[in-house]
Amino acid sequence: MKVTVVGAGAVGATCADNIARKELCTELVLLDIKEGLAEGKAQDMMQTAALLGFDTRITGSTNDYTKTANSDVVVITSGIPRKPGMTREELIGTNANIVKGVTENILKHSPNAIIIVISNPMDTMTYLALKSSGVPKNRIIGMGGILDSSRFKYQLSQHLGCNPADLNATVIGGHGDTTMIPLIRYATWNSNPVSASLDAGKQKQVVADTMVGGATLTKLLGTSAWYAPGAAGAALVEAIVRDEKKLMPCCVLLEGEYGQKDICLGVPVVIGKNGWEKIVDYKLNGEEQELFNKSAEAVRSMNDVLKTL
Ligand code: LAC
Repeated sequence: MKVTVVGAGAVGATCADNIARKELCTELVLLDIKEGLAEGKAQDMMQTAALLGFDTRITGSTNDYTKTANSDVVVITSGIPRKPGMTREELIGTNANIVKGVTENILKHSPNAIIIVISNPMDTMTYLALKSSGVPKNRIIGMGGILDSSRFKYQLSQHLGCNPADLNATVIGGHGDTTMIPLIRYATWNSNPVSASLDAGKQKQVVADTMVGGATLTKLLGTSAWYAPGAAGAALVEAIVRDEKKLMPCCVLLEGEYGQKDICLGVPVVIGKNGWEKIVDYKLNGEEQELFNKSAEAVRSMNDVLKTL
């Protein structure tokens, strides 16, 4: 199994680090346009192999896509991250060209790869990768909902005093501060709805804190986060390479599901060796569907910006 991570910045490198520690593949390529960066980080990670005991072979490459040839899965993290006060949407002009170019280069050498898009604004970048490449829809997956759901579980665990991993909680919709939808009604701990243990005010607080999870970290760090985004990317790679048939919220092409079409947006899907294999229909109530439609509207107007670039 071979995996490539494009972009050796904080998110890409953390994702690669998680992939290696979990031994998700025998060969892992880290690629970046900045001279020496991917080679340096790859070597640094390889020097943890004796300490951590993994046998994934990590190599770095400065923009040489021949090194990525025949990858089974490719994770795209390229592009600029947001700075404090910026929205993910403001990155579109710069990152669209980068993501389009990277996708083309990847497919030249790995025509059958499953492509995971993490670059922001993620929903629009996923749509762009899909439309510009013509790759079958099941092989293009945007990663945002797994990250946002993990943040949702963290926020819930703080209030409930429980282990975040014991929670079942899902965020759907766009991966934006105002477009994501933490489905609090569906969240459970030990099979009990969390709404039974949290009053309405606390539920509202959890939802609001989840939605600005990324922005809060950007303010603290001066740039966007990497530990959780990198780990979330690796979790998606894991579900694919191990054919886990795992239910994960991912950004995929909708063709009428959830009442939307010609848009990539976060919904629960089954992930396995073929990429996303099935969209699962959570029965949204009227209020949730309205939020989903609003989210789609916002993402659609961002997608329209692509036509002007
Ligand atoms: C975040 C970025 C990776 O949410 O979108 O931290």
